[in-house]
Amino acid sequence: MIELRIGLEGVAVAESEISCVNGEKGELIYRGYWAEEAVKDHGFEAVVHLLWHGEFPTSDQLSAFKRDLANRRVLPDYVKTIIKSLPKETTPMAALRTAISSLTVPGESWPPTQTQAMDILAKAPTIIAYHYRVQQGKEPIEPDTSLDHIANYLYMLHGESPRASFARALETYCMLSMDHDMNASTFTSRVVTATEADIVSAITAAIGALIGPLHGGAPSKVDDMLDEIGTKDNAEPWLREQLESGKRLMGFGHRVYKTYDPRAAALKVVTQQFSDESPLFELSLYVEEVAIRLLAEYKPGRNLYPNLEFWAAGVMRTIDMPRELYTPTFCLSRIAGWSAHVMEQAANNRLIRPSVVYVGKRPETPPPSHV
Ligand code: ACO
Repeated sequence: MIELRIGLEGVAVAESEISCVNGEKGELIYRGYWAEEAVKDHGFEAVVHLLWHGEFPTSDQLSAFKRDLANRRVLPDYVKTIIKSLPKETTPMAALRTAISSLTVPGESWPPTQTQAMDILAKAPTIIAYHYRVQQGKEPIEPDTSLDHIANYLYMLHGESPRASFARALETYCMLSMDHDMNASTFTSRVVTATEADIVSAITAAIGALIGPLHGGAPSKVDDMLDEIGTKDNAEPWLREQLESGKRLMGFGHRVYKTYDPRAAALKVVTQQFSDESPLFELSLYVEEVAIRLLAEYKPGRNLYPNLEFWAAGVMRTIDMPRELYTPTFCLSRIAGWSAHVMEQAANNRLIRPSVVYVGKRPETPPPSHV
């Protein structure tokens, strides 16, 4: 008899050395380092290197890694044409999914390589910025190879070199959201890879999984929620009404974390550094406090706390990231994690093919004879 685990909760589908979440204790490990510690003294490229190679790069390796990534940022003309020809109403995530799916990466389609992963990772911010500026009726900005990955992303969005503190705040978010063991989109990337499909297909499929509001679509919805709440006085009545009508509070709860998400805790500290200039910071603090209390009252025993998205929204607001780019920004960092999993899956591959408990009708006649 096959055991039915709807949502695959508590089922392990692979061994992995990349990252590990302990939801009861609120812990996240990247390759043997506490994630919050790993991101403290390192930048985006170094943490990607850690996830892909299992160790931080030496300074020579880091320079070479940065150079390789920076040199791959420019989009081929056909990708620009695709982006420009998308309908006005195409969302940034749909544009990213479409443009990534069109990429032709160097080398054979199997097995996936670091060069291919690098190519996709390098181009993702350019695609997001290019589409954003085209949609705004602005001239797209070509990448600046002298800037680091995240600073260059902000430069391509806004057309000026970003404030170093803003680039660092976003970089911290991107590093903390890079990988999170077997989440829905990472699982998707591994399922596709396990069929020996190419890395572009695996990353494209993972982007699809990340689009859903139960996964990557929450941070902008956190801001929508804060906008609707508007004032501290309105927080408790508004949150109560949501919970009484069976709605979910965006940025709270997690399939794995049953305590405060360590990424949310780290990003709260980042947002706090800008508390004077971060819109809605005071309101966020208050909403967080009331929501934790009300979630315990309405959903006792479910242990619902802020997840990454609640304070990711704080960072994004602080640096003035356009709201529609919150999820694409999450995605550009998660591509690094997906790529690590794609390469790990391919290195020790087995087709992922679960079962189903069939509860449909059976034919009323005996099975046909095949002899
Ligand atoms: N607000 C209110 N109630 C909630 C919330 C929430 N944010 N999250 C969970 N619950 C309740 C559910 O209604 C359920 O109640 P019940 O037992 O009375 O039916 C109980 O808590 C357990 O919920 P599940 O749906 O089983 O929890 P699951 O593990 O499937 O959900 C999820 C995790 C999808 C993240 C959920 O907490 C949620 O919808 N949160 C809001 C959306 C969000 O913040 N998404 C971002 C996730 S973080 C990320 O992907 C990086």
